[in-house]
Amino acid sequence: MNITSAKFEISNTDVAKCPAVCRHEYAFIGRSNVGKSSLINMLTGRKSLAMTSSKPGKTTLINHFLINDQWYIVDLPGYGYAQRSKEMQRQIKKIIEDYILERQQMTCLFVLVDSRHDPQKIDLEFMEWLGENSVPFAIVFTKLDKLSSAAAKKQTEKYRNTLLESWESLPPIFYTSSADMRGRNELLDYIEELNQL
Ligand code: GTP
Ligand code: MG
Repeated sequence: MNITSAKFEISNTDVAKCPAVCRHEYAFIGRSNVGKSSLINMLTGRKSLAMTSSKPGKTTLINHFLINDQWYIVDLPGYGYAQRSKEMQRQIKKIIEDYILERQQMTCLFVLVDSRHDPQKIDLEFMEWLGENSVPFAIVFTKLDKLSSAAAKKQTEKYRNTLLESWESLPPIFYTSSADMRGRNELLDYIEELNQL
């Protein structure tokens, strides 16, 4: 799919104030600093559509971007950033949970996982919670440019095996790098497929 236009529309802390118009919507979630905003920029081919930072905790709102005047990409705050105050952590958790549980038009939630790390409890528990709430999701490995191809294969295989200990089947999995644009076509093709449903 070609991206012909990508426009920031609105930021919110409250899911009830998100765009009322019903379009297909794809949200990006994962631990702080995993590369959500960078991936959105990579997918849309816009350098600074979503704000990125080397410091975790950059995105704190629900950000809607209108793509090709047809569908939305949503950049969400990251979870699991321990340096935030307890109150801020509570608020962010509520924003994320309310969005995921209440946003009917969210067609797929992309859960980003840093390919360099072993499976983390916080991500595995988050995916369990998605399963319990019947939320459609896919897994996106990020930052693959930081690993050799042998290490990438080993890490992602380890991840799949860990998931298979608790899941009967695996969700769609994507292998990406915002630095070298790996996985862009695969992700956009998947979105295009879901847009037809
Ligand atoms: P929060 O909004 O804080 O939750 O973070 P985020 O998940 O949106 O991460 P962000 O896109 O801001 O990226 C965090 C850092 O990782 C930045 O310094 C990015 O440049 C870097 N980064 C993101 N994706 C990649 C990637 O694919 N490869 C490399 N090498 N660096 C990346
Ligand atoms: Mg971000």
